[in-house]
Amino acid sequence: MPEPGVTRRPVTDPESRRANRRWWDSDADRYQDEHGDFLGEVDLRWCPEGLREADAGLLGPLRGRRVIEVGCGAAAGSRWVAAQGADVVGIDLSAGMLRHAVQANEKHCLPVTILQADASALPFGAGRFDTAFTAFGAVPFVADSGRVMREVFRVLKPGGRWVFAVTHPMRWIFLDDPGERGLVAVHSYFDRRPYVEYDESGAPTYV
Ligand SMILES: C[S@@+](CC[C@H](N)C(=O)[O-])C[C@H]1O[C@@H](n2cnc3c(N)ncnc32)[C@H](O)[C@@H]1O
Repeated sequence: MPEPGVTRRPVTDPESRRANRRWWDSDADRYQDEHGDFLGEVDLRWCPEGLREADAGLLGPLRGRRVIEVGCGAAAGSRWVAAQGADVVGIDLSAGMLRHAVQANEKHCLPVTILQADASALPFGAGRFDTAFTAFGAVPFVADSGRVMREVFRVLKPGGRWVFAVTHPMRWIFLDDPGERGLVAVHSYFDRRPYVEYDESGAPTYV
């Protein structure tokens, strides 16, 4: 019987979407347990180093702006942006992650609209938003990040701002494994094909 494994190979958008939605649904509670305290409930932290939007001001003025958070997870960032007076929509592929967003929105009574959607096919017309942002949402978890860039460009007004934090591409020369196995470089930095974990049948489980 073939074994599950990790490789670099092309995958289709539906394969990527199916794999990542399942993966994030099944990891949602663990992710929030592990990172929830660090992320806060009404706060926008850009990265594991802890840089906060309240200090960095990367998004520019927010009062009265229309803002989208792409890959919002539990949407602590969207709530913080709403608290600054913006009109915010948080989108995410995973219903499991969005369950945490809805619970926290109810608790904090902040007007954040939550939508389940794929960052590669945003369900909005052109020029809807002044500002788009994400802290590690969606961009590192799609087969074609260029497509996410084009979608964000489309839904932003001309001159709109897109701020995103992602892992350095160097990350994908390693296995996505927090243990020792993840400390060994196994892929070429110059391989531009998606990083794909697959099951016994060869179907992608994480892209
Ligand atoms: C590392 S988490 C970051 C979540 C949140 N930004 C935070 O800082 O906690 C990555 C998020 O991207 C979402 N995601 C993955 N692929 C996506 C896609 N194609 N479209 C939208 N969201 C996606 C996942 O469901 C997950 O919530």
